[in-house]
Amino acid sequence: MVQTDNGKGGRSSLHGFWSSRLAFILAVTGSAVGLGNIWKFPYIAGQNGGGAFVLVYLLCVFGVGLPIMMSEVLLGRRGRRNPVASMALLGEEEGGTRSWSLIGLSGVVAGFLILSFYSVIAGWVFAYIFKSGAGDFAGADAEQVKTLVQSLEGSWLATGAWHTLFMGLTVFVVARGVERGLEVAVTLMVPALIVILVLLLGYSMTSGEFEMGVRFLFEPDFSKLSAGSVLAAMGQAFFTLSIGMGCVMAYGAYLPQETSIPATAFSVVCADTAIALLSGLVIFPIVFANGLDPTAGPELIFQALPLSFGNMPFGTFFGTLFFMLVGFAALTSAISLMEPAVAWAVESFSVTRARASVIIGLIIWVLGFLSVLSFNVLSDFTFWQGTFLDNLDYLTSNIMLPLGGLMITVFCGWVMCRNASVAELDVGAGNLYQAWRILTRFVAPLAVVLVFLNAIGLLDWLIALF
Ligand code: TRP
Repeated sequence: MVQTDNGKGGRSSLHGFWSSRLAFILAVTGSAVGLGNIWKFPYIAGQNGGGAFVLVYLLCVFGVGLPIMMSEVLLGRRGRRNPVASMALLGEEEGGTRSWSLIGLSGVVAGFLILSFYSVIAGWVFAYIFKSGAGDFAGADAEQVKTLVQSLEGSWLATGAWHTLFMGLTVFVVARGVERGLEVAVTLMVPALIVILVLLLGYSMTSGEFEMGVRFLFEPDFSKLSAGSVLAAMGQAFFTLSIGMGCVMAYGAYLPQETSIPATAFSVVCADTAIALLSGLVIFPIVFANGLDPTAGPELIFQALPLSFGNMPFGTFFGTLFFMLVGFAALTSAISLMEPAVAWAVESFSVTRARASVIIGLIIWVLGFLSVLSFNVLSDFTFWQGTFLDNLDYLTSNIMLPLGGLMITVFCGWVMCRNASVAELDVGAGNLYQAWRILTRFVAPLAVVLVFLNAIGLLDWLIALF
């Protein structure tokens, strides 16, 4: 394997570097912006009563998510390897034990689980590109839209075929290693996505129950905030920022030494949050105007959006374009979900990138059928949180990612020596560094632990005890 050195200090890398700071920002933005913003944020906000949930979500994004994202990039760049190897190496250097590699390993597993259901939903988005293009949404009313959704999810063959197509596409891109090309496309995709969302916002403002939608999202009603919804808000913050599983760490490994980590992380987090809020503002006025159920769950946007496109001028065109953009955003996220596993396989088992991608892709594809069947054959087979898809989503977003994030902050804030993080963050040891340090040592880990304790009912018990 060729060792490359960027000549700017730091460890030499086992692989190349991003060509520029912009390339890295685009890659991380491509990873962060995806179904989590457009599909999951509205549906989770709907299920958890809106306002108060959104407030907790924002607190988690900026108070917990942002410092963890910085920590992840920092660890990736310092380790310069795949997340498993980076954590083994840094663990040994800083903490005297290679067991920290478990963070990387659990991240690889989380990536498999997340991508397995992510691909099924992304498959729906691809199906909608064609349905929109065929004019299937034209003049749609709430009843027609529900039938549309049912006809797609009711057929495991159709859902499975779209899932197969999406996984095939993801493997193709990862195997060929053409991600760099896609990153450039992100420069077009993200602004275009924002433009169409703003257009849709115009439609929601004029034809939807806009005021109701705004109130729902921004008027906090704390009586609706259960321990479960606080956990869901935190889980969503992790999911939407792609943190807690080594995804951002894997990308950080290719980051040139001179790039500013805080500035990069901050811009990604802001763009991601803006897109999620915009998506919520587009969806809920339509949901309320058409008597849809805000707690509908994963189907929510697939019911609401055709109503907008079906009844606005040039809806067929904008609808097709919109779903293409969302499909593309999902693809750049899916690629990042595979990256830790692929980089790990390539660096540890001397397989080629292509072979590793195909094998990993096949495993995820098979696993994905649990989620495909969740909507039809196995829709009545529910346990714990619901269907297989519900359980995979809950297990990864609400448990695995926050736990991974907790370990990352503990490592960065408590195990790693201060000089190491000062050097990597490269903002001096002033206020900005101190802010990150406090968030990483105290705020983020405590928040995760408290939200967990709260969710299992132990927090009330502890408070009563004292
Ligand atoms: N953040 C992406 C989205 O919002 C999904 C994603 C990509 C992800 N990589 C991840 C989620 C890593 C959790 C962890 O659609």
